[in-house]
Amino acid sequence: MVARGRAVVILEFEVRPSRSPMPDVERRSILAAPVFGQAFTDHMITLRWDDERGWHDGRLEEYQNISLPPTASVFHYGQEVFEGMKAYRQPDGSVALFRPERNAARFNASAQRLAMPELPVETFVQAVELLVRQERHWVPDGAGTSLYLRPFMIATQPTLGFTLPSRSYLFCVVASPASAYFSTRTGPPALTVWLSEEYARAAPGGTGAAKAGGNYAAAFLAQRQAVEQGCDQVVWLDAAEHTWVEEMGGMNLCFVQQPAGGGPATLMTPALTGTLLPGVTRDSLLQLAARLGLGCEEGRLSVSQWRKHCEEGLITEVFACGTAAVIAPVGHVRGAGGGWTIGDGSPGPVTLRLRDELLGIQYGRTTDELRWMRKVC
Ligand SMILES: Cc1ncc(COP(=O)(O)O)c(C=O)c1O
Repeated sequence: MVARGRAVVILEFEVRPSRSPMPDVERRSILAAPVFGQAFTDHMITLRWDDERGWHDGRLEEYQNISLPPTASVFHYGQEVFEGMKAYRQPDGSVALFRPERNAARFNASAQRLAMPELPVETFVQAVELLVRQERHWVPDGAGTSLYLRPFMIATQPTLGFTLPSRSYLFCVVASPASAYFSTRTGPPALTVWLSEEYARAAPGGTGAAKAGGNYAAAFLAQRQAVEQGCDQVVWLDAAEHTWVEEMGGMNLCFVQQPAGGGPATLMTPALTGTLLPGVTRDSLLQLAARLGLGCEEGRLSVSQWRKHCEEGLITEVFACGTAAVIAPVGHVRGAGGGWTIGDGSPGPVTLRLRDELLGIQYGRTTDELRWMRKVC
């Protein structure tokens, strides 16, 4: 098939429905109060790649364990990339994905950085849609709930050699009903964040811009430290100077700045320097903020400027953004040298407005003028 002069790869996925799907009663009880990342649906997608056949053996099959030799490259050298995206129940009962082609493109950018094969965008979206269609009765409809999708790819070649990347890979997609991360019945609570001045997440030339498992493995120690300090999440600083704010453990950061001379506020977020993940939510909020008349800036901010500007009333709100939590307001910052409060420590009006706008689009409550939603079934 050819579209706009470009070959569109349509792979066949063999559909093998599960013979023992979860009983309705059990599924409904999970959907009534889904906990992020704990329950998984009846099916998954698998698709294999090797250097002789390319992508092959696409299947929708029963959710099951993966069997691999203990020498599979992923277990030793961590060649793994993944994505996180959501399907949302719409007011008319249909189900829609949010900007899935952005996740597909980022998946390929991650794969490229880890020397793994790229998956055509159409095939990535086709696989995700197939799973969502199969699991449509797993998409919850409670406020703030969704079906979280986790596409991932692992290196499967059985070898301990470290000369060349794996010659075979497994791509999978699993799904899990979810409620929003960091959310309560009364809305998003303000987070307390920990400045990690001892450890670094990503250095120039490294894998910080890729959604690779290794980045997260290296982050656990600092995340545990954050929890021990009574904080919710880590804020990573640049690796060279430990000065410039980059992002959080699993979210990008945004700062609402008030211009010294008055006028509309500006939404500032750290620029994509190659050491932080280009969030789909971050990109979407920059576009929404511009449409709401806010200034938008991709810049840089040091920890001392962050503190000083909060004290001077020039930064009035800070929030973290990502697929899992959507927007999580940041109320307090702590680090080895003390801490400070942002505004009065509670979620601010710009944060809540942007959150409402984005959720309105994702849940089909407002017109999707930017055509971000892709109806699946
Ligand atoms: C390190 C990191 N930064 C930022 C994000 C936000 O990205 P997105 O908005 O695409 O979910 C995520 C989540 O995927 C992440 O893991």
